[in-house]
Amino acid sequence: MASRTFSLTPKPVKPTQTKFRTIKTAIPVPESVPILESLRKSEPLSMTGQPAILWDSAQGCLVKDRWGNQWLDWSSGVLVANAGHGRKEIVDAIVKQATSPLLHNYCFPNESRAELAKYLTQLAPEPLKKVFLLTTGAETTECAIKLAKTHGVKAGGKGKDVIVSFEHGFHGRTLASQLAGGIPGLKTWITREHPDFVQVPFPGDWRLPAAKTTFQAFTDALAAKGISAAQVAGVIVESYQGGSAAFLPVEFAQALRKWCTDNKTVLIFDEVQAGFGRCGTLFGFEHYGVVPDLTCCGKGISSSLPISCVLGKPEIMDLYGPGEMTSTHTGNPICSAAALANLKVIVNEKLVANAAARGEEMFAGLEKIRAKHPSRLACVKGKGLVAGVHCVQANGADPDADLAFRVVERCIEKGLLLFGPVGFKGGTVKICPPLVISKEELADGLQAMGEAFDEIVAEIEKEVPAAAAAR
Ligand SMILES: Cc1ncc(COP(=O)(O)O)c(C=O)c1O
Repeated sequence: MASRTFSLTPKPVKPTQTKFRTIKTAIPVPESVPILESLRKSEPLSMTGQPAILWDSAQGCLVKDRWGNQWLDWSSGVLVANAGHGRKEIVDAIVKQATSPLLHNYCFPNESRAELAKYLTQLAPEPLKKVFLLTTGAETTECAIKLAKTHGVKAGGKGKDVIVSFEHGFHGRTLASQLAGGIPGLKTWITREHPDFVQVPFPGDWRLPAAKTTFQAFTDALAAKGISAAQVAGVIVESYQGGSAAFLPVEFAQALRKWCTDNKTVLIFDEVQAGFGRCGTLFGFEHYGVVPDLTCCGKGISSSLPISCVLGKPEIMDLYGPGEMTSTHTGNPICSAAALANLKVIVNEKLVANAAARGEEMFAGLEKIRAKHPSRLACVKGKGLVAGVHCVQANGADPDADLAFRVVERCIEKGLLLFGPVGFKGGTVKICPPLVISKEELADGLQAMGEAFDEIVAEIEKEVPAAAAAR
């Protein structure tokens, strides 16, 4: 996520008024600044990576503040609001459960959790027929890593304990999830290499030469690190990499599936971002025509309250005995009710199909924007309703964090809500609207984004000769 802070100094901006976007004040809103400053005083610096707008209400694809501004949301609040913000069915389910006499009951059974667990295991393909509910995405990747290592030791003895993951990958911010992560800048606090965790190049990385994206390159990379297949307990991979929205080559994913089966290695797809319709399929891994042994889900599972899950093969999910794999808030009744209502909205309203259809329009629009700035926009990656627009410097190769940051800032000023740039050196503008987005809303957002790129690229191009002349 973003490593630059958005300014708290109000800047007068050109007013915007479209059917979906209204900006009528300076940004940030002067009256919001004391509240934003108070947050900055009480929270760690790490919490200042998002645009300085004070959310007051969020409905569908629209986010409002208290001062009459309205943004079209292309963040889904970090890929959570798949069914849209404030969805009535979800609110009703939360209110019904919250006003019942049951708010919490630990791992004692409750009906709300039972219904959700049944629905999730019905939605998931064979053999993912058991589910363990948790609270955050990082907990699910921790849990899947633990299950894979437990399985490895059982299947191949103590030496089968290595977790293989991919460069540029992200699986959360806790210890094992970061040991599996492939972003060195996030791991400087882990001062020693851990022999059980190795990363290899991500074959969906378009910057790699073709020879490095083959399955042979994967096994070669392991061999170069002195790792044999017999040592690998698990492979964890995001269904698409969150930092770039890049997918694996299909033939790679299929070869990986076979290799894992042949070597009794647990294949884990991290679907925390990709799940529940985001990629125009119910699960992102459907794009590969394979099914993992375990999959980690979170974010879009509820479109609202914190809840996550690991779905998996019964023989792996049952590795721990009664009381040995639990969590205090497992399947909280209110969170479970919210998730069930959300999943039913996604299924009943065919939001997966909407994501696929709107996604085609979104990529067509983004390609048009890219074609106007071919030297500064290297490519657009993604599928369904998730995209990464990759900004590069004038040399056409190095990521341009400044361009990405300024485009996000300009979009905010135009009423299009994005989160801070992501990806390799912060050069990626990430786009992920709620899956309920309409054709008209999508076109309105593309208009704003196109203008932002036109304006910022022109401004940067003017600044370069000016800076050179001043030297
Ligand atoms: C692919 C992936 N895995 C895991 C996580 C961690 O989820 P959480 O922030 O809920 O712990 C994230 C969060 O962005 C993610 O994108």
